[in-house]
Parts: sequence; structure tokens; C-alpha cells
Amino acid sequence: MSDADTDSLYYLTTPIYYASDVPHIGHAYTTIVGDAICRYERLRRGAGQVFFLTGTDEHGEKIERAASASGLQPQAWVDRIADEYRSAWRDLNIQYDDFIRTTEPRHEQVVQDIWKRLIERDEIYLGHYEGLYCVACEGFYLEKDLLPGNLCPDHKRPVELVREESYFFRLSKYQQPLLDLYSRQPDFIEPKRRMNEVKSFVESGLKDLSVSRTSFRWGVPVPGAEKHVVYVWIDALSNYYSALQAHERTRAFWGTADRPRAIHLMGKEIIRFHAVYWPALLMAAGIPIPRKILAHGWWTVDGEKMSKSLGNVVDPRKLGADIGVDAVRYFVLREIPLGEDGDFSYDALLNRYNSELANDLGNLLNRTLAMVEKFSAGKSRRWPATASDETRGQRLAEQALRRRSEVEAAMAEPQPQRALEALFALVREGNTYLEQQAPFTRVKTDPDGAAFILYNVLELLRWLGLMLEPFMPERAVELRRQLGLPNAQQGGWPQTWGDFPDGLAVAKGATLFPRIDPDRQKELLETWRAARRAAEEKARAAASPVPATQPAAAAASPAAAPAPSSAADGPIPEVSFDEFKKLDLRVACVVSCERVPKKDKLLKVELDVGPLGHRHVVAGLAQFTTPEELVGKRVIIVANLKPAKIGGILSQGMILAIGQEAIVGLLAPDRDVAVGSAIR
Ligand code: MSP
Repeated sequence: MSDADTDSLYYLTTPIYYASDVPHIGHAYTTIVGDAICRYERLRRGAGQVFFLTGTDEHGEKIERAASASGLQPQAWVDRIADEYRSAWRDLNIQYDDFIRTTEPRHEQVVQDIWKRLIERDEIYLGHYEGLYCVACEGFYLEKDLLPGNLCPDHKRPVELVREESYFFRLSKYQQPLLDLYSRQPDFIEPKRRMNEVKSFVESGLKDLSVSRTSFRWGVPVPGAEKHVVYVWIDALSNYYSALQAHERTRAFWGTADRPRAIHLMGKEIIRFHAVYWPALLMAAGIPIPRKILAHGWWTVDGEKMSKSLGNVVDPRKLGADIGVDAVRYFVLREIPLGEDGDFSYDALLNRYNSELANDLGNLLNRTLAMVEKFSAGKSRRWPATASDETRGQRLAEQALRRRSEVEAAMAEPQPQRALEALFALVREGNTYLEQQAPFTRVKTDPDGAAFILYNVLELLRWLGLMLEPFMPERAVELRRQLGLPNAQQGGWPQTWGDFPDGLAVAKGATLFPRIDPDRQKELLETWRAARRAAEEKARAAASPVPATQPAAAAASPAAAPAPSSAADGPIPEVSFDEFKKLDLRVACVVSCERVPKKDKLLKVELDVGPLGHRHVVAGLAQFTTPEELVGKRVIIVANLKPAKIGGILSQGMILAIGQEAIVGLLAPDRDVAVGSAIR
């Protein structure tokens, strides 16, 4: 490609999402924002000039554990989740140029190449790591950054002490080069206030970064040292670069040292990885750095972080099926300014739908088309117009031009929320114009004048149909189709006012956004809330997966699913010896134990199970005993119970305890037997 061809290339990425669970509205938000920005850029620069990348982050301990909890091999598990993401993005009308998966050979190859370059340049060395690691973040923390009780500040769950041989990246060398970068590219991180946070993090000093792990296998093997796998964040960040490497055409999107291009869009919680580690690694490898780290805020639900373990996760596909995909896209883009946090509310969603989409936009189109049909034989009529009509038409044109500039300014930032604000102000201006010019009255005395008023509104709708496309692509095409425009599928950016064809037959169709009446609103709110209650119930049950006959964990939550029949209620059905033999009961020793924050009945217990290794179980024992009392004790466990999340922590087994409602004792061997011994 020549310089001229590459001059306006635009490259935007979303984070690659962990293949540990299916997408929720938070993931959808980033992807919809990225899609709207890229669709806008395609309209402005031409389709071939824009590259929008998304994908899935498929390696690491977190994924390995999610796979094992569901009884699948990691590859089979990530294949399934990647499919879920792809189909969710298809449903939400996301037009990505590539979907990268970190388990693809094309990616792994590039990760290993980058690694080799870093080794050759002496940017990586072998050492030992001991640190506090949060599996949920796949990140290390310094003690000073943790919450009381050694909790991860993001996930509010205990970090783990990890000690292992590890390769290190000489991150400490990059303190000054990074600070220089932030001065040289003052808009490297946006919003600006995030830049200050990153700067002070870097100014407070950088330690070399542990970049390999030996405690699990699910990752990209380190070239020449195959017992190590590449630290999952190094692996993941490289996707932005690896996805472009296969072809010359796509490589150009990365840009050069003088003309960096990559814009990384993401939630604010992962800025540090993108604004510190990633540019430092690229500098070390001699690869041009990105142009911008663009961080957006977080959606909460009723003020709480969205999480499966709370059961408050909002499913964007379900919403799309109920009220239309473009209404969901519109809502998330319109509701919060990019960079700010926001709380998701079904009421706000329905309010915006009815007042802005159904009333303001839907009515403008409907009324206009109905009047064109009635007053102007179903066709647009451009001429003749009196001088005063021209002036009034001109006023509408000026409003459209002004709003178009506002949209352009907003998208240059980018701020889709402000772009939509401007577009819907224009919609309201169109409605006001209709009210004031009153073609429905005018037609009685001056049918030509009425037709010209309608012509202006048709032109306004054409402009809206083009400018709304990045945000609501499917409805924008439908709007243009109903206007009767030839090639309605083909969009563009409005150029000249007055291009609406003369004599065009409009094609009024079904309402663009049918009003959701109070009964339907009630019905929708009820189904959404019922789904939420069911998810919360399920989450509570998962926090307490053991039936009441196994009180150790049943005590975890009083609100758990109704207990099946128990010893107190009546006889428990017989089991055959073969069924009993399926249980792998073992002697285990409690190595460490701690309370689970905010769960007054739960203890997180680390067990040594001899030949089966170490594992964690979460037990409802906190009201019966203390962590101090438990450490060092021998207990009996069910070792092959399907792993489950209890209180947000993966529990791999169950400690056998005595008692019905309250626990009164623990089962233990009567003499000193080897840890891990089987029970028969
Ligand atoms: N795999 C890493 C990213 C690696 S990028 C090289 C990861 N994955 S994730 O599945 O946890 O996705 C995090 C991203 O999803 C956030 O940065 C954000 O873009 C989006 N969101 C997830 N939950 C969100 C909200 N509740 N609100 C807004 N966006 C959120 O981190």
C-alpha cells in the first residue's frame, strides 16, 4: 500500500473477552460502542479503510478451571464459548472485520515470535516469583494494593500466594520511556483523568513483571522452555498485533512509529495492562506502539457489579429478542457518556424506548408518510414553493447541517452518546417543524405548499436515516426503505440538503418502533424480573450445592433451594453398593483456612489430599469452628464431587460433617493414617 492509501486507515479493537462465560450486557456494551464507532468511520473514510477487531481470550488458569468445572477439556470448552460470542455478536448486528482467538495457531505463532525477540534483546530473564495472585484478574498484586483481608480490589476475593520459577520482563527499565510516551502523546489515554492515574502508578516505580507460569499447562508454551507457559496477559495483549500479521493489507493497520494507529477500547478496569505493560513490551520488542487507550466506564445493576454469582447479569440477546436489537443498541449508547459509569435499569430502557424511539422518531416517520400518502398522492414533491416556504425549509436545512456538525464533532472524540443526543434533537426539530408549518391545515388552501413542507421533512428523514446507521443499522435501512429511496441498503454520509428525489413513491411499512403499551411493559418487566429472580436463586443454590443431608455446605445459605427429603423429614431412598462406590471419599489434611468475606457461614479451606494434590473447598463451617481451630486437622472429604462455585469461589469437594440444621461435629479418622487414604 502506498502512503496515500494508508493515510486514513483506522484500527479499533475491543478487549478479547475471557472464554470463561457467555457474554452479558457489559461485554455487549464495549462491542456495540466499538461497532458504532467503526460503522461511522466506514461511512466517513470508506469501508476498506477501517478494521474492527474483537475476539476471545482463551488461555490461563481461570479458563482451565472453568472448563474443568463443567467437565470439558479446555479446548472443547473454549470452542463452545467462542461460538457463543460469535453468535451473540451476530444477533447484535456487530460488523467486525476479524474475530481472533488466542488458541489459534496464527496467534500462538506471533506470541512466540514476540517472546523470541524479547529474549534476543535481553528484555526477558529467568528468576523466581513469589507473589499474591488473583486468578479472576489473572494478575499479581502488591500487598499495599489489596483490600483488608488480602482481597483483590477488583473481585473482592482472596488472592493466592504463588511461588514458582518464572521468566521476568524488564519492565522497571521502562519507567522513563513510558513517562516520555505520556508526554509525547498527551491523548494516549482517554478520558484524560485516567492518564493521571496511570502516570502516578508509573511514577511510583515499576517492578520487573513475571511473564511465565509453570503451575498449569493451558497456555502458549515458552519457546525453548516448554514447562513454562506465557503469562496470559502477554498472550492476550498480543492479539491486537497478531490478528493483523497474516496479510500485507491488514499489517498496514498497525501503523508505524511516526504514525501509530491502533485504538484500544476497553473497560476502565484493565487500563493498567494496556497503558503500561503493553506499550513497554512493544517498545522492548521494537514494535510501534498504539495510538490510544480509550477507556469506558462500568455498568452496574442496582448499584452492584454484574456477576453470575450474584445472579444479576443482564442478557443482551434476550433484551434484543424482546424489544429489538437496535433499541438495545440505542439505549446503551445513549444512556451514558463514554467514560462514565452507569446503572442499568429496565425502567429507563422502556422509558427511552417509548419516548425517544417510538414517540419522537417513530411518529415523525409515520405522520410524514401518512400525510404524503394522503395529501401528495404518496409521492415526494419538490416544487413549487413560495419564497416564505423556501425560507422555512432553509431553517430546517440549517438545523440539519448544524446537527450534522455536532455528530461529527462528537464522533471525532468519540462520544456516541452526544452524537445521539444531537440526532434526537434534530428529530424533535423535525416534529416541531411539522407542528408549526401544519401541512394538515395548509393542504386545504395550498396543496403545493403542504407538499413542499412534507418534502423538507422527507429530506430530514433521509438525513436521519443515513446518520443513524452506525447506531441502529437495521432500523436505519428500514427507515430509508420506507422513504422509498432506491438502494436503501446502501448508506453514506449526507452531503447536500435537497437531494431527496422529486416524485419518489414512499413505501410506508410497519411502525419502526412500535409503542410498548402499559400492559406489554408490565409483562416485559415481569419476565425480565422473573428471569433475574431465577438467576439469583440459581446463584444462591450454586453457593450451596449440597443437599440438606450434607449439612456442611447446606448451611451456606438459608435461602437455598428447598431441601430434598432428609433424615429428619423421613427415610432417604436406598442406594445400591455400586452407587455408593461412585463416591471417592478420602482423608485430607487442612493446610490453611480463611473466612469468606461477606459470607458469615463460609470458610475457604485448603486441603492436602496426598496423591490427589492440594485443592480448595468452600464449607459452611464458619458458625461451627474457626480457621485457627481447623488448620492441621484431618477430615474426610468427598473428593470427586463436581466442582461448583460457592460464594464466588470454586469449591473442589466437600468436607463431611455431622448435624442436621446446625453442625455439631466433623468426621475424622480414629488413628494416624496417611493423608489421601481412600475410604471404603
Ligand atoms: N480477557 C481480558 C481482556 C484481555 S484484552 C487483551 C478481560 N476479559 S473480560 O471478559 O473480563 O472482559 C472485560 C471487558 O468486558 C471490560 O474491559 C469491558 O470492556 C467489558 N465489560 C465487562 N463487564 C462490564 C461492565 N459491567 N460494564 C462495562 N463493560 C464491561 O478482561
